[in-house]
Amino acid sequence: MTQDELKQAVARAARDYVADRLPVGDILGVGTGSTANFFIDEIAAIKGRIGGTVASSEATAKRLQGHGIRVLDLNDVDAMGIYVDGADEIDHGMAMVKGGGGALTREKIVAAVAETFVCICDASKRVAVMGRFPLPVEVIPMARAHVTRELAKLGGTPKLREGMVTDNGNLIIDVHGLSITDPAGLEARINQIVGVVTNGLFAERGADLLLLATEGGVQTCVR
Ligand code: A5P
Repeated sequence: MTQDELKQAVARAARDYVADRLPVGDILGVGTGSTANFFIDEIAAIKGRIGGTVASSEATAKRLQGHGIRVLDLNDVDAMGIYVDGADEIDHGMAMVKGGGGALTREKIVAAVAETFVCICDASKRVAVMGRFPLPVEVIPMARAHVTRELAKLGGTPKLREGMVTDNGNLIIDVHGLSITDPAGLEARINQIVGVVTNGLFAERGADLLLLATEGGVQTCVR
């Protein structure tokens, strides 16, 4: 199977999970990225039972609206049953690296509100130790040089993502060459650097459920 076929398969499994578990009329959080895009296209078929969605990026909001799916402001939502999103890496403790698409801050905010975080990805994303995928950090523009110096002290190599401005008007610095053996500790440490908005480690609030597309079918892993 191609990687796109795996993404399609896991998107279908996530659609079935939502159809089965999200009470009719409830709010669904929707992530960002190519796997999330397949998921958005799948939920068009069940949009009648979804009360509304909250999008984790402008791109996701646009795609949802393109299918006639209602998109709500998170501030108008009291509760959200399920959030479905991809990941760049996920370890066996269900911690993730996210933000390859630059939407990490909004993704983390929407995930914080959701009762259940469902991660959807293909088997290539499952790793023993995260860090091969560069860790994205969203930074206030005036703090770029300061944050870069502080990130370098953590042992990796920070590099500005050229030409990238987030939906929040900020920059992304990708930290290369890390070996992330303590995801929650590193997440907290990076967030303490002044000028950092968010980092792409989702460990404090990891995934509750992983739908993992493999050649043999979609596997379900629980935290
Ligand atoms: C977006 O900012 C990311 O967090 C994505 O969720 C992540 O990069 C996975 O994207 P793909 O599904 O495109 O691999």
